[in-house]
Amino acid sequence: MRTRFIVGNWKMNKTASEAAAFVRELARQVTDLGGIHVGLTPPFTALQAVRDALGPASPFLLGAQNLYWEDKGAFTGEISGSMLKDLGCRFVLVGHSERRQFFGDQDSWTNKKVLAAIRHGLQPILCVGETLQDRDAGNTDQVIQRQLHAALWGIEPQALGSLTIAYEPVWAIGTGRAASPDQAVPVHRLIRRTLDELSGTDLGHQVRILYGGSVTPTNIADFLFSEEIDGALVGGACLDPACFATLFSVALRSTPSTA
Ligand code: PGA
Repeated sequence: MRTRFIVGNWKMNKTASEAAAFVRELARQVTDLGGIHVGLTPPFTALQAVRDALGPASPFLLGAQNLYWEDKGAFTGEISGSMLKDLGCRFVLVGHSERRQFFGDQDSWTNKKVLAAIRHGLQPILCVGETLQDRDAGNTDQVIQRQLHAALWGIEPQALGSLTIAYEPVWAIGTGRAASPDQAVPVHRLIRRTLDELSGTDLGHQVRILYGGSVTPTNIADFLFSEEIDGALVGGACLDPACFATLFSVALRSTPSTA
């Protein structure tokens, strides 16, 4: 059975001291996650502060929003997987649409980043999603398949055991216009089928697939109602401790995924 996974994508929000205060408040409000996984992705500059504020016994998983694929060297401004691992990160986002849109992350880079994450023992959360233009043109399936094929190209199926996918329609991110479960579920099924085809195994059945895009405490249960959807990648609604805590308490109460 796949364990539910709720991940907060902090984006470029919170200084190190704000992040530490946030995490202390979150930990005060929530002491038991009841068996679901909850991930936090502060900016790089706040990872150490969040780690210290959480303490060694915390159930929250620390992650990062991006990484570079080389291990070290003359790459000004970049952060490697070994640096993230050393700070206690367990997972890393790869290919978020804001990286693709604003920073030129290409499909081929997502492949190198997924490989680098695996090499350093970080779980990759690979983000895929179509633009509104893609969807209106009927190209959603094609875009998702292209992004998956490119990002996972040449990676042995056994190396992909820790992979998580986040399906995030670009038009739903930060717009307050979430996809409906009827729109999201067929894409989650397509992702599972594509993973099976790519790997020649039942990888699609093992991998957690999260929905992301304007998830709130009000609509999260609608997504988790489907056995296809294993959790959520949450931006705006993760920045307030009470709001974020409500999200995962709803996730905990909703029917566990058994697909
Ligand atoms: P949002 O962002 O929840 O604010 O739409 C989601 C994301 O970008 O991962």
